[in-house]
Amino acid sequence: MSKKTVLTGITTTGTPHLGNYLGAIRPAIEASRNADFNSFFFLADYHALIKCHEPERVARSTQEIAATWLALGLDTDTATFYRQSDIPQIPELTWLLTCMTSKGLMNRAHAYKASVDANRDAGKEDLDDGVTMGLFSYPILMAADILMFNADIIPVGKDQIQHIEMARDIAGRFNHSFETLFTLPEAQVDEATQLIPGLDGRKMSKSYDNTIPLFASADQLRKLINQIRTDLREPGEPKDADGSTIFQLYSLFASDAEAATMRRRFEEGIAWGDAKKELFEFLNAQLEAPRQRYNELMNDLGHVEAELQKGGEKAREYSAPFIQQIREAAGIRPLTFVPAQQADTKQKKEKSAEDVARAEQGRRRAILMQLKAELEQVAAADDKAAEAVAVLAAKQAQVEGLKKKARQKAENELDVLREELAQYID
Ligand code: TRP
Repeated sequence: MSKKTVLTGITTTGTPHLGNYLGAIRPAIEASRNADFNSFFFLADYHALIKCHEPERVARSTQEIAATWLALGLDTDTATFYRQSDIPQIPELTWLLTCMTSKGLMNRAHAYKASVDANRDAGKEDLDDGVTMGLFSYPILMAADILMFNADIIPVGKDQIQHIEMARDIAGRFNHSFETLFTLPEAQVDEATQLIPGLDGRKMSKSYDNTIPLFASADQLRKLINQIRTDLREPGEPKDADGSTIFQLYSLFASDAEAATMRRRFEEGIAWGDAKKELFEFLNAQLEAPRQRYNELMNDLGHVEAELQKGGEKAREYSAPFIQQIREAAGIRPLTFVPAQQADTKQKKEKSAEDVARAEQGRRRAILMQLKAELEQVAAADDKAAEAVAVLAAKQAQVEGLKKKARQKAENELDVLREELAQYID
């Protein structure tokens, strides 16, 4: 079986906190130990510029996030660990994809829409006030991150699902227009780590200022845990474990058996002060060793930099030849370039049955994406059979009006459309 590729990135604008660790870094490192996957993890420093124009902060955050992954034991020989800005093929691909992305698709992106909504609510006349082109086309840069390495699985938070869908759309458009080069990625969302509560019980997030830095000193960690909001129940009164931030954080670090024991103690009425003390001791024991390693690495940034250089080189071994293929498919070619079909000296690459099936599946998905409107039209019609017949007739007429290459493309679409609509017609 060919290995699947898992890829994820972290934007370098802040100090890693428990939420980042539990939601993103810990599962990613675990996945990288599974020999069935290739893993690509990166520092999304070009993404940082979208929302942060403080150079010192971006640079500092990049150091911290890099040191964090290494301190937590990421094996950089198995995983490819790199900095986005060390891969020049990513911004290059971003442009090629920008030219394949409809503006309407970007108009629908959540991050952009949120800014427009905020401007509207503030009564501003210019709804695009404060919106940079970076923010607007952010999903295209993200698509390039993913498609550059033909990643299959993208572990992300719920807020990022839309971006993965957009990457699929963009990849489909490229595949269909030029050549099937891109794998269509899938988002992987871990429900258990979607809601990691912060100090005030809301989702732990920089924007709520309720985070616990992953490598806070033992003293800071104790202080922060003491600030966790609790209710007024007295010692001895049974407490609701599931509704408590203390219990939730505890169980995210605990085995099932340990969590069950703690749950019992909540039912038996553990005092809030004792629960906080337990949580502190439990977390501190687990974080102590990586924290020390982190501090060492922050004092040896040359070593961290060398790790990133190594990862960058590994990543470019993939991206550099692949971007050539992508450019050539789009027509950006040396003057002497001869397309593969015409070069009889060129040996056809042997493809495994699985590769062929995978390419076929990708091609079909790409075509389906182009046919979305027609398929929806039929599905929404009252008389689906009549609508299906009409849609097929229109497509057939279109095919007949076309020449050669365009005709072949439209015929492929017609074939897929026939198969998809067969269910409606008897
Ligand atoms: N935009 C993502 C976030 O804010 C970070 C990111 C950038 C990313 N490029 C990516 C995540 C590619 C997954 C894949 O969380």
